[in-house]
Amino acid sequence: MREIKAEIIHGDCVNVLSEYSDNMFDLIVTSPPYADKRKNTYGGMAPDKYVEWFLPRSEQFLRVLKPTGTFILNIKEKAENGERHTFVLELILALRKQGWLWTEEFIWHKKNCYPGKWPNRFRDAWERCLQFNKTRHFKMNQKAVMVPMGDWANARLKSLGKNDVVRFDSQVRSGFGKNIANWVGREKAYPTNVLHLATECSNKEHSAAFPEALPEWFIKLFTDEGDTVLDPFVGSGTTCAVAQRMRRNSVGIEILAEYCGLAKEDIAVGDYQLFEKGGRNARRNGSKNH
Ligand SMILES: C[S@@+](CC[C@H](N)C(=O)[O-])C[C@H]1O[C@@H](n2cnc3c(N)ncnc32)[C@H](O)[C@@H]1O
Repeated sequence: MREIKAEIIHGDCVNVLSEYSDNMFDLIVTSPPYADKRKNTYGGMAPDKYVEWFLPRSEQFLRVLKPTGTFILNIKEKAENGERHTFVLELILALRKQGWLWTEEFIWHKKNCYPGKWPNRFRDAWERCLQFNKTRHFKMNQKAVMVPMGDWANARLKSLGKNDVVRFDSQVRSGFGKNIANWVGREKAYPTNVLHLATECSNKEHSAAFPEALPEWFIKLFTDEGDTVLDPFVGSGTTCAVAQRMRRNSVGIEILAEYCGLAKEDIAVGDYQLFEKGGRNARRNGSKNH
């Protein structure tokens, strides 16, 4: 079996990546520090300065990503003075100018988001996962993320009259996939661009850790075994731990030494132990009880 490498590097990703050659990575999946967030843990920059801060880093991402690769950016703008800030929208436009294609936007619906009350809005239950690519011909294993068709198929699809199907078909001038009649009786469907995932709510020692299912989904969709994944803001190392379990090589970069230590713990434990113990949180909880 081919050896799988996982590496956690301490430093600012802009400097660390400047040492890497072009076109090294198949997937970049990351959640950077959000503007003005978490000032007490790992800094945070003013929303107005965010694009300026991000662009030198994304320039490196663009250089080290393979032409067939994908960049997934998990980010969400907060509300300020009663309005949503526009820095994410500005960032999208700036990234396009930098040479990225903005190919898709996935919504991460946080299934278990906690209740709250604000004077002029409801609780925030979703974040963006923006997809950027270098070319239109990127690797995408759509079959790897198919989902059970579910009961709605019987009720909704089978009740379509012949005319409905024909009308639908002629409206969209579709190929096989867009013609709903072709999906009747099938067990699996392709997912939508909304991911319904719980946030990580166990006692991980990083305040903004990914749920493992988030990088897992994108790794399945955009890479094959043996490919190489980069998380330039790796925090507690979720992306690398998951990549290792899925037999993908990975590099994680983290500016704070304490998080690097945390991330390295999981990498050292390795894939089989993580599986056996029910994931990294189970292992951490277990070790705390002893
Ligand atoms: C939102 S957290 C990522 C959490 C991660 N997804 C996880 O599962 O633990 C962002 C991380 O980026 C790190 N960071 C901030 N600026 C950085 C930089 N310039 N280079 C590398 N890491 C940085 C922060 O210390 C923080 O741990």
